[in-house]
Amino acid sequence: MTLLTTILGLLAAATEGPVGGGFWMPRQASTAADVVDSIFFFILWISVFFFVLIVALMVLFVIKYRRREGHESAKTATHNTALELTWTIIPLILVIIIFYVGLRGYVGMIQEPRNAYEVWVTGQRWSWTFEHDNGAVQTNVLTVPAGRPVKLKMTSTDVIHSFYIPDFRKKQDVVPGRYTYLWFEAPEPGQYQLFCAEYCGTQHSQMAGIIEVTAADEFDDVIAQKANWIDEYADEDLPRAGLRLYPRCQSCHTLDGSPLQGPSFRETHRLWGQKRIFADGSETVVDENYVRNSILNPGAQIVMNYPNVMPTFQGQLKEREIRALIEFIRKLDEVVDEQGGPRE
Ligand code: CUA
Repeated sequence: MTLLTTILGLLAAATEGPVGGGFWMPRQASTAADVVDSIFFFILWISVFFFVLIVALMVLFVIKYRRREGHESAKTATHNTALELTWTIIPLILVIIIFYVGLRGYVGMIQEPRNAYEVWVTGQRWSWTFEHDNGAVQTNVLTVPAGRPVKLKMTSTDVIHSFYIPDFRKKQDVVPGRYTYLWFEAPEPGQYQLFCAEYCGTQHSQMAGIIEVTAADEFDDVIAQKANWIDEYADEDLPRAGLRLYPRCQSCHTLDGSPLQGPSFRETHRLWGQKRIFADGSETVVDENYVRNSILNPGAQIVMNYPNVMPTFQGQLKEREIRALIEFIRKLDEVVDEQGGPRE
């Protein structure tokens, strides 16, 4: 195996870009990246070698054995045991080696170490929500410690998504109705791009995020702060704080005006200060009290033509968070555009 390891090492060293990323690959930012790239380049260079060999021999033979005046064409050989054994045994050995290194890399990728830091991940059209054990909830940004294994326990509320971090060489489907797992260890603090790699609807390409790897000795403080993240915001930033809470609403309430299970926040925004009519024929003015009541006691006023399906958020949201959602809806146009994408 030492010979193989040496060959793999030489090939990788000869071909890979700098750690910051190169022509072939993005930067190597997890403990798995090196293994994945080594196998990729191992297979790539075997393929290149045989491509060049076969094409060169083909061209050579076409020229050398072309039909010419005064040359008898030879009888086609029907059998050559030595040749057939050679072209069977050499590829067999090669594919066994590829299988072995591939299997070893795969097993290392699916078996997470025992002391992993664990995070719950929810994929939903079209964002990622991360829940830490200390209560911190993050949207589209995941903060994790450097140099420590991180295990993600992932599910989806709607369709199949795929959690993909190219710099880590890690990808895993996120499936509704079950948990799937992905683990990684990023040695260096930094920011790494997260993508959704499974087509999941019109905004699939915008279902991206950032993995924020924080120095191990700072991580505990940072994540404790995030558990109270809304306190970081001054009052004038409440609408933006509301936008960060919005993933908890978005499976039923859109921002672009289209109806889902519940009325779009844009519709509620447009009706601010005006009357809204409910299923029982009653009506009320859309204001702070109406939105607050709809969050805490959703069954009390059901908007016409919508089902009574929303669970109460009583006890799940702090007063400050309720205020953030109210301000988010009231000032919706300042925070998001017509399609519901965040404004800069
Ligand atoms: Cu989620 Cu594509």
